[in-house]
Amino acid sequence: MKQLLEGRTAVVTGGARGIGFAVAEAFVAEGANVVLADVDGAAAATAADAPQLGGRAIGIACDVSRSNDIENLVTVALKKFGAVHVWVNNAGITRDATMRKMTESMFDEVIAVHLRGSWLGTRAAAAVMRDQPDGGAIVNLSSISGKVGMLGQTNYSSAKAGIVGLTKAAAKEVGFAGVRVNAVMPGLIRTDMTAVLRDDILADKIREIPLGRAGEAEEVAQAVLFLASDMSSYTTGNVIEVAGGRHT
Ligand code: NAI
Repeated sequence: MKQLLEGRTAVVTGGARGIGFAVAEAFVAEGANVVLADVDGAAAATAADAPQLGGRAIGIACDVSRSNDIENLVTVALKKFGAVHVWVNNAGITRDATMRKMTESMFDEVIAVHLRGSWLGTRAAAAVMRDQPDGGAIVNLSSISGKVGMLGQTNYSSAKAGIVGLTKAAAKEVGFAGVRVNAVMPGLIRTDMTAVLRDDILADKIREIPLGRAGEAEEVAQAVLFLASDMSSYTTGNVIEVAGGRHT
């Protein structure tokens, strides 16, 4: 049986760990070659060598907020694999604090990595994909935080809401060329990013989740796989929530 991403090449930013790495695993399992791009270049290289990626991944150092790094990423991906069919803007950071304590640099850093990084990635990916006969699929990582707003996350919630707007606007620009742009909106997912949460805060958050637990990176990866593959061939400018039913 044909695999969902057979013969396709995917770029995953922030791919060294967490959701990005789970996405890479899901993609390779469905036949893709994967470029793992991460600001932590050493971790990206190590991750690419993981046995479950079957020698079909490469790791590259890339800060998604820097356009030169994104240009280099495209060049490396094209040189190694000849095309870019899927691009996942997943890299992320948090710099949580209430507005009274949040510095301008904490705001700017989060916007730069999430919103500027996703825009740079979307622009670069679309430029390649629009000239390919079979187009391509871009998947952005938003967050439920961008929909409902989270306390202590005015920077992150702003960036993640912005990513929804970016997704919808870009989808309108590039649909004519067979390039689809969608987003996934995870809720609370167990990764390094959320491992820093205090136990009592975590328990409070879990009480708000209808499914009664945090999600796993692999569960987000399945939604990303759907949006990256032809299973979603008539879906663009859309957002899929993977949040256990959480709406607060
Ligand atoms: P993580 O912290 O486990 O992994 C993030 C990866 O991004 C790391 O490998 C890090 O080195 C890389 N990274 C950070 N800044 C970068 C930059 N400037 N350029 C390139 N790479 C960079 O995070 P996690 O949990 O896997 O999150 C992945 C995405 O999912 C993020 O966009 C995050 O905001 C989003 N998300 C995560 C949720 C969660 O509960 N874990 C919930 C909703 C959204």
